[in-house]
Amino acid sequence: MLWLKNAHVIDPAQGISGIMDVAVQGGRVLTLGQGIAAAGLPDGGEAEVTDCAGKYLFPGLVDAHVHLREPGQEEKEDISSGSRAAVRGGVTSLICMANTSPVIDSQALVAFVAERGRRAALARIYPMAAVTKGMRGEELTEMAELAASGAKGFSDDGRGIQNGEIMRLALEYAKLTGCPVVSHCEDEFLAGKGVMRRGPASAAHGLTGVPAAAESVMAARDVLLAGETGGRLHLAHVSAKGTLAALRAGKAAGWDVTAEVNPHHLILTDEDVPLTNSDFKVNPPLPSAEDRDALLAALADGAIDMLASDHAPHTWEEKACPFEEAPFGMAALETALAALWTYLVRPGKLTAERLIDAYARRPAERFALAAGTLKPGAPADMVLFDPDWEETVTAESMASKSANTPFLGRKLRGYPVKTWVGGHLIFERRA
Ligand code: NCD
Repeated sequence: MLWLKNAHVIDPAQGISGIMDVAVQGGRVLTLGQGIAAAGLPDGGEAEVTDCAGKYLFPGLVDAHVHLREPGQEEKEDISSGSRAAVRGGVTSLICMANTSPVIDSQALVAFVAERGRRAALARIYPMAAVTKGMRGEELTEMAELAASGAKGFSDDGRGIQNGEIMRLALEYAKLTGCPVVSHCEDEFLAGKGVMRRGPASAAHGLTGVPAAAESVMAARDVLLAGETGGRLHLAHVSAKGTLAALRAGKAAGWDVTAEVNPHHLILTDEDVPLTNSDFKVNPPLPSAEDRDALLAALADGAIDMLASDHAPHTWEEKACPFEEAPFGMAALETALAALWTYLVRPGKLTAERLIDAYARRPAERFALAAGTLKPGAPADMVLFDPDWEETVTAESMASKSANTPFLGRKLRGYPVKTWVGGHLIFERRA
């Protein structure tokens, strides 16, 4: 038995935020409460005791948007290295995207990803399956079969589905599975060859910009289609105010729509993009300050349901080229929580309780994963978090194969110091 004492436990699913003890047995939470008495525990409290004073204990994070690149792009990441990165960042369950090579569009590939995840034996790895075969946007995958094999959602993330009728059918058919359709909202005609958000900053750099409407127009379409079909829609990486208008309207109408936001879109803006550093190049691009503020307000008031990293690793060689030519994407699993804590929780822009709600309880609930809470009987997937642990982000310290993060070289404050999955200690941070 594991007995964690005096931790500040945050578990929004139980409305808990306060100092208490947690006891774990058989891989599950046995009980939690203020000053658990040894006499009340099995074996009279014979346990491995950890004093957690001064630290937070919360459910392991659940990240619904991760690119693990396997199969096919193992030079960027694989399921094993990505799993190590996850647990270093406090993520104990994740859903990995289908834009691999080949695309995850068959039962065999869904089963392959799940099996590789089990073998890595760190975080719990769940596959997302593609909406369309080969992610070509033309023909739907066999959604019922893919869900039966373990897919937790459907997404062509990395590419927007340009054909509205295909999206309508996807929302209709996905209803049979209970899984959400996750939309990468991007109108390719509006986005054109843009490489950062269109605005004064892109003009100053002389770079082609992507208008915010490239996202919002498709988000509005998909929200309307969710309304018409009664389908279950989740908007990936929301980055623009116009998208929030569509999202709020869909929710007000009672439609089954949810959305996520990525830490980088809450922390950085287009004004931070240096022409010489393509680690700041991401899709959707970093927003204007006005959009960033609207995203933060929407996360705080619940219009945006959840946080997700959109961990998108690319090799140093791929990124070491002119901004226009580099691939879109940021490695984020290992910095997401620390960056959110440093830039949002510490300055009082986001509460710790809402952070855990949005990065654990909500995604677990939306994607029907057994995770996201420390209720008695739940899997003991837990993070011990030291709000004062300081560490500079370096390529060498990262478990990910790629270090394409805009936070490289920055000192962040607030890191996981221990991570458990199913009651097993699988990561411990050392100075
Ligand atoms: C993602 C990737 O690299 O797979 N990149 C990114 O910038 N988010 C795909 C995507 O969502 O465009």
